[in-house]
Parts: sequence; C-alpha cells; structure tokens
Amino acid sequence: MSSSRIDSLLAEMTLAEKIGQLCQVQPHGRDQEDLVRAGGAGSLINVVGDDAYHYQWLAVEHSRLRIPLLLGRDVIHGFSTVFPIPLGQAASFDPPSVREAAATAARQAAGAGVNWTFSPMLDVVRDPRWGRVAESFGEDPLLASRLGVAMVEGYQGEGVAACAKHFVGYGAAQGGRDYSETAIPPRQLHEVYLPPFEAAVAAGALTVMTGFNDLDGLPMSGHAPLVQGLLKDRWGFDGLVVSDWNSITEMAVHGTAADASECARQSIVAGLDMEMASSSWRHHLEALLERGAVSPQRLDDAVRRVLRVKERLGLFETPYGRSRPAETPATAAFQARQLARRSCVLLENHALLPLGENVGRVAVVGPLADAGHDQLGCWVFDADHGATHSVLAGIRERLGDRRVSFERGLDRCRSDDEHGFQAALDAARSADVVVLCIGEDAGLSGEAHCRAFIELPGAQQRLLDQLAATGVPVVAVVFTGRPLALGAVADKARALLLAWHPGSLGGPAIADLLFGESPSGRLPMTLPRSVGQIPLYYNHKNTGRPPDPDSPRVPSGTPLDPSGFFAAYLDEDHRPQYPFGYGLGYTRFEYADLELTPNVLAPGGTLAASFTLRNVGARAGTEVVQLYVQDLVASVTRPVRELKDFRRVSLEAGESRRIEFELRGEQLAFRGLEGERIVEPGRFRLWLAAHSQTGLSAEFEYAERIADPVGQRDEAPTEEVPAELP
Ligand code: GLC
Repeated sequence: MSSSRIDSLLAEMTLAEKIGQLCQVQPHGRDQEDLVRAGGAGSLINVVGDDAYHYQWLAVEHSRLRIPLLLGRDVIHGFSTVFPIPLGQAASFDPPSVREAAATAARQAAGAGVNWTFSPMLDVVRDPRWGRVAESFGEDPLLASRLGVAMVEGYQGEGVAACAKHFVGYGAAQGGRDYSETAIPPRQLHEVYLPPFEAAVAAGALTVMTGFNDLDGLPMSGHAPLVQGLLKDRWGFDGLVVSDWNSITEMAVHGTAADASECARQSIVAGLDMEMASSSWRHHLEALLERGAVSPQRLDDAVRRVLRVKERLGLFETPYGRSRPAETPATAAFQARQLARRSCVLLENHALLPLGENVGRVAVVGPLADAGHDQLGCWVFDADHGATHSVLAGIRERLGDRRVSFERGLDRCRSDDEHGFQAALDAARSADVVVLCIGEDAGLSGEAHCRAFIELPGAQQRLLDQLAATGVPVVAVVFTGRPLALGAVADKARALLLAWHPGSLGGPAIADLLFGESPSGRLPMTLPRSVGQIPLYYNHKNTGRPPDPDSPRVPSGTPLDPSGFFAAYLDEDHRPQYPFGYGLGYTRFEYADLELTPNVLAPGGTLAASFTLRNVGARAGTEVVQLYVQDLVASVTRPVRELKDFRRVSLEAGESRRIEFELRGEQLAFRGLEGERIVEPGRFRLWLAAHSQTGLSAEFEYAERIADPVGQRDEAPTEEVPAELP
C-alpha cells in the first residue's frame, strides 16, 4: 500500500535524499545539523529532549523536502519510570499489565521526543549464561508471543513505533556467549524462534531489527531467505527492517563479505531498509546502483517503507508528537509497583511468610537492600533515579525506622571482602527476622554481559550461611537478570523470593509481598541446579531413554547412584531446581474434575477443556493456570509438553470456580518432515496445570478429516496450514 504523499515524495527525491532516508545516525550534541538539513539522515538514535526537538525542527522546517525524522531509543522496560526487566515482566504471565506498562513508557518517551523504541526483544532463550536473557521473555515461544504483542500494542497505541528484535535466533548464542554463532535446525527455528516475530508482525509491528548472529552460516543482516523471503514476501511485513548497531559492516568480520561495499550490497539485497550506526550505505549505495549491483526498485522499496512508517506514526502531521495529557507520575508508579509485585516468584516458604505487621524487629541486610541503581537492571538510560525506592525504603515505609536495622554485610554483590559480616550478624541477632537482599548487580546482565557460572557472585552465599547459622529466620530476596542456581540459597533460607530486577518501585512491591499480598509470579524460564545442566528447558523432546521424572531428588552431598542407561548424569540430578511455570503463593489451589468436550477435536472445530479451581487455603491468592499439550505420536518427534494457553485467576479463600479453555486444531500445528506446517490426526495429552511438571491431564484425539461429503479421500489427510519458506 502506498500513499500519494509517498509517491510524490519519491518522485521529487534526489538519489542522495533517498539514500539519506535509509541511514540512522547517532549525533553527539549538535554535530549532525548540516546532515539533517541536507536530508542525509532518515533517523537519529539516542537523542532525547531538547536535542530531539531541535533536530526534528531542522528536518521539518529547514530541509528541502521537510521529511520528519524517526527518533529511536532503547526504551526496553520503561523510560523515567522503570518497570521490571522483560524477564521479570514475563514472570507475571500478565499481558494486559505488560501492555499498560509499555503504553506508559511510550507516553513518557514521546514526551521527550522519542517516536521509535527498539523493543520488544522477542528472542527465545534457553541459556541463562547469555547476558541478554534479562531483556527476553524467557524460554517459551507462546509466552514470548503474547507478551511481545502486548508491548507492540502498548507502544504503538501511543504513537511510538515498536521494533521486533533481533530477527532471528540471536538468543541461541552458542555457549551463552553474546554474538556467537547460532546453529538452529529449521524445524526448531520455525517452532521455537520465529513464532514471536510472526505474532508481532501480525499485530502490526512497524519495524523489525536483524540480529548480530550468524544463523547456520548466514549473518542475519544478510539473510535474504528469512528477511526478504519469509518476513516480507511470505508474512507480508510492509514496515521497515533496520540492522543492529554496525551489524551490516560486521559481515566483513563474519567473513561473508570482503569489504564495506559488499556488506552494503548483501544487506540491502537481503531486504534490510535502514543501516544503524555504520555508514556503508551512505558511502557505497550510489556506486552499487550505478553498476547495477543494487536495483533502483529495491532502493525505492526501502525508501517507501521508511516513509510509510513515518506516515503511519502521523509524523507528517504531528512531527513533534501528539499533544497528550500530562503524565501523572502516580499512575506510572502504581503500575510499576503492581507489575513488580506480579513479577516476583516465591520459590520457597517454610512457615515464615507473610510477615505480620507485629513481626517485631527486622534486620534488612545485603548489598542490594538499598541499591536503587542495581534494582533497575540493564538497559536503563532515562530513569528518574529520585523516584526509585529500595527494599529498605519499602520496609521502613511500612514498619517505621525504629524497628528496622540495616547492614550491607558486603559493599557490593561481587565483593569477597567479609569485613562487614560481623555487623550484619550482630544486627541479625538483635532482630526477629532477617530480610537478606542478594543476587546480581545490574552490570552482570545485558548486552555482552554473559557469565560462565550462575551461582551467587562474591561472598553472598557465605553471608547467607553465617546469617542462617545465627538461628534467626532469613528471607532471601534474590535480584537477578538471569536464572541462577539457587539450591544452596534454598537450603539456608526459610523463604526465597526471586525478584529479578524489579524496577523503580521494586522495594515497596517486595515489601507488599513480604507483608501480605500473595505472590503470583511464575517462572518464565527453567532454573537449573547447576550450569552443567544447560541447556535445560521444559519443552524438550522425550528421547528414546527418558530418565524417571519422579526419581527421588538425590540428597546433596551423597554420591549419586549410577544413572543407568538414561538421558541423565552420573554427577548431577537430571531435573531442574525449579521448573518452567513454577511459583508459590500464600494459599493453596486444588485442581479437580477435568472435562474435555468433545474428546475428539474435529478439523476446524474447538475442544473445551474445563476444570474446577479451588482456593483451599486461608488467604486470597492468584493462580496462573497453564494449558499444556503433547502430541503423543507424529511423523516427527514432538516436545513432551508445549504451553498452549494460560490465564491468571484470583480467588478468595475457600472460593472455587469452573475454568474453561478452548483449544483449536491449528494450535496443534508443527513442521512436518518436508518442512510444511501441518496438523496430523492422532492422540494428544492435555494438562491443566500449576506448572510444567504437574497438572490434571487427559487424552483427546484430533480426528481425521471428516469424510468429505463430495468425495472419499483415500489417505489419512492432514490439515494443511500455509507453508513457509525454509
Ligand atoms: C545494540 C543492541 C540492540 C539495540 C541497539 C541500539 O547493540 O543489540 O538491541 O537496540 O544496539 O542501541
């Protein structure tokens, strides 16, 4: 679809102006004024506030064609109000709240002149060593799809372009080392890594960013089959595709291009429409066009796409953004506190939480108890640090100063210097309970911040061990940008709350949970026992020799029995410390009376799965009910479980409710032997569950196509779903 405005602009543009539209530049102060006046940039990155408005004014009032700029910024999990890191938001299993947070972030960013955010990150991740797991929605493609769509809707509903990134497979970095090669077989690519991008495109994401990664021999910024072939031609994506930072010229480092000119040629021919940061297009496109190495049609298509995004954002009418009601900080703070509460996952609680208001004295200990910067997490540039509230502040706000003591114990998370231990132990001995805030500082996750080990850094475990030895009960609150191996923490703490990096209002949110609101977060990613188990994820294949899922958990410290001839280890339990979807609250839920109606799912039909959920505890609580399915026999091996739906359900103490999910045939689709998307007839198992290793289950059948009334089919038909390119 092209507008008359775009057609007439294209007709007027010089070649230099066309190439200019495809270049994104990072100014340093006002050093790009002449370039913008000359129409030499279609987008700027990392300018906010007065600089953003100044450059937009130059483009709109003082360039020849007055084409507005796209002003891009990494607004990854909030702008001035910081929400939990995306991995924490994923733990909420709460798309409406994630959408609301994205809308607030967009309003705040737009108020500073930003009209394009490089979010959501849709990379599915199965390796907690990778630093960017913090920016992801975890290991499941459905959860990533639902939350990615929520963010796209939240941002774009406020006039800020979303960016589905990093297309595709970047999260499978070998060894969890950022930028490393990604060797993903086609079936896994289409069933695990592509679905969130397909969902975001279907939801109308205006932009897509290619990843740094070499996918099975082709760097994504030169991957024509997936960028032009699948994303654009097959899925019909008509927005713009931007490279990642220098990812185009890095193809010369990957080794698929000899020089910058060849990088430029490969990337634009592959279907990219804008170059971020590097300048190979500015320097080489004209010559490539002159010698016919790049077609004028491809150039014009790229320019159209850039202009189309600007038109869809309304920038030609309102280049300085929409007039909007002043952002009420209280709204943003309320949303940030609520989403932080819903993102925390209670992993252990041995008759300690919730703490009553009459709890007596509380010793708040640890390097992250009063660490506003670190609790915000990675990818934070525009935070209002004055509006960040720590756990110490949150508990003092609730109990007053008199009953609350504070000792760091360790100056920093990574410190091995135990000089502060004694004061911490003294504070513990004078208290009725210890709230110990430990984990990772913000600098241990994010881009290029990968770890080879996933235990607590520094002397934090030793601090916990000594605090536990005082006999005063310890609540461990763990801040982190990734799944950690928390077995040793669980052994010593009476309660264990996983808070991720919870954002500006993380402190009060954690206090809300410690003093009464029932936690409702669920793990968006498997927590392994040790780094040696990685990769470890719930939707794995069964293998021909699966270990006994119920084999007793081996007591730590005793020699493991030989694992026998199973997919297991001699020296480590084969199961996770905590599985995908797991989380506790302050009450208990029972699942009963599962019914599947009908128990034969006909092609084109729907199957209703219903059960009774009962809150059998003494407190109100929220359960995240998860629907899983397994294809028991198929033409290729299928995962032991796949999440197909989920829902947050809040019940008062003693309340019960009939809950029903609908399942449709196309949700059973997978890629067959020939690479086509199919649904095969046969037996399936369905669970309605509290997490990925439990649940009420029953079998159902996906019927062969009902005999076609106009003619008999002689083979077991499959329901063809439009195929995709390899
Ligand atoms: C970075 C990241 C990408 C980010 C971009 C702009 O290298 O890979 O996610 O949006 O550059 O900062």
